[in-house]
Amino acid sequence: MSRSAHPAGPRHADVMTEGHYTAPPADLNALDEKVWARTVTRDEDGAITVGGIGATRLAEEFGTPAYFLDESDFRARCRAWADAFGPGADVFYAGKAFLSRAVVRWLQEEGLNLDVCSGGELTTALDAGMPAERIAFHGNNKTVAEIERAVTAGVGRIVLDSFQEIARVAHIAQRLGKRQRVQIRVTVGVEAHTHEFIATAHEDQKFGIALAGGQAAEAVRRALTLDGLELIGIHSHIGSQIFDMAGFEVSARRVVQLLAEVRDEHGVELPEIDLGGGLGIAYTSEDDPREPHEIAKALGDIVTRECEAAGLATPRISVEPGRAIVGPTAFTLYEVGTIKPLEGLRTYVSVDGGMSDNIRTALYDAEYTVVLASRTSDAEPMLARVVGKHCESGDIVVKDAFLPSDLAPGDLIAVPATGAYCRSMASNYNHALRPPVVAVRDGQARVIVRRETEEDLLRLDVG
Ligand code: LLP
Repeated sequence: MSRSAHPAGPRHADVMTEGHYTAPPADLNALDEKVWARTVTRDEDGAITVGGIGATRLAEEFGTPAYFLDESDFRARCRAWADAFGPGADVFYAGKAFLSRAVVRWLQEEGLNLDVCSGGELTTALDAGMPAERIAFHGNNKTVAEIERAVTAGVGRIVLDSFQEIARVAHIAQRLGKRQRVQIRVTVGVEAHTHEFIATAHEDQKFGIALAGGQAAEAVRRALTLDGLELIGIHSHIGSQIFDMAGFEVSARRVVQLLAEVRDEHGVELPEIDLGGGLGIAYTSEDDPREPHEIAKALGDIVTRECEAAGLATPRISVEPGRAIVGPTAFTLYEVGTIKPLEGLRTYVSVDGGMSDNIRTALYDAEYTVVLASRTSDAEPMLARVVGKHCESGDIVVKDAFLPSDLAPGDLIAVPATGAYCRSMASNYNHALRPPVVAVRDGQARVIVRRETEEDLLRLDVG
């Protein structure tokens, strides 16, 4: 997303920095509701609050860095997705975005299903009481032990990702005396407009079986002959952080074409299609995400139209949003440490976390915004780069953002839209302690994932 480059002083009103055009917002204290969880606002002292609790109190009670998650927003987004798709479709929350036992309970209470992609996620889901039939199990290299556990538990579906896996799951299910419901994940050959590391529908990557060259048709042929499998449908996930519906539409059309081929060849109408997750959220004010009801309508219309054209009954649709549910619901709160102004460039603002709690900036060149959270300020804007405390110069949390020039060590700053793929991708790099996730709702805050301690680190180090 290179926009331009020319040096400018840190306090210039309108600055082009390498890679990113940034202009200071009209009001540095404003909270753009697009990027903040729904209950976030500023209290009369100027500190940001979530669920009715101020950032200063949250930092005192839970420490920093920490993720604060707006539980009522999470639940509202679950309901919005469930309502948009209605009783004739299924919404599976993608647990890889962020999963904990509390999240699993919220999903159950709000009527969502769950997509897991590892034995660890499966364990968390089952432990928190998610009924196995509401779980979909994904992954391009599920181990035999994971498959055995999933089949034994009775998961609602296993999404088969390769020819070997078709045979493996069939064999395991048969050995366990079961018939496992499965879908086949296909790659439909569309280029989703997103970062290459999170695009998954083109052929030259590790996931799924290509529609091209008749491979997916061959996979269906095999799955239909195996006693251990009940093939219930076709799955396609085209990538992540996508705004343009065109890729989903092409994907839906191609999956329906495959259903028609399967009907013609085998006389079987597969009853389900899953169109994956991947819907984008606003990380900055420039992003314009779609609402769940628009997405549901666009996907429903295209599937219905294509099925009518092919003379097929409309299959049951499922989707797997992760980021779009949890992403906007949380922010990360940091304490400002050292501040290093570089005349003519920018000011480096170091915080007490970094790439260990948000790897997305370093990994995907992701964009975030930041605000002063413990107070408001009328000081001039200064062009800042928020960096972590790790031994890497790429340890950047927010590449370019304006913060007030009176920012001082001890101030709290908050980065919004960190609910997805931040805690779930957090690491112990430099023996950092992974931050807690605190759920806030109606004036109550409770830790749902506790902060790691040095004892946790030493416990794994068995000498
Ligand atoms: N379904 C499948 C099969 C997936 O592979 C994924 C994400 C999802 C659903 C959920 O996608 P979402 O709605 O959250 O975009 N770490 C990257 C994102 C990786 C996504 C992997 N698969 C990031 O931080 O952007």
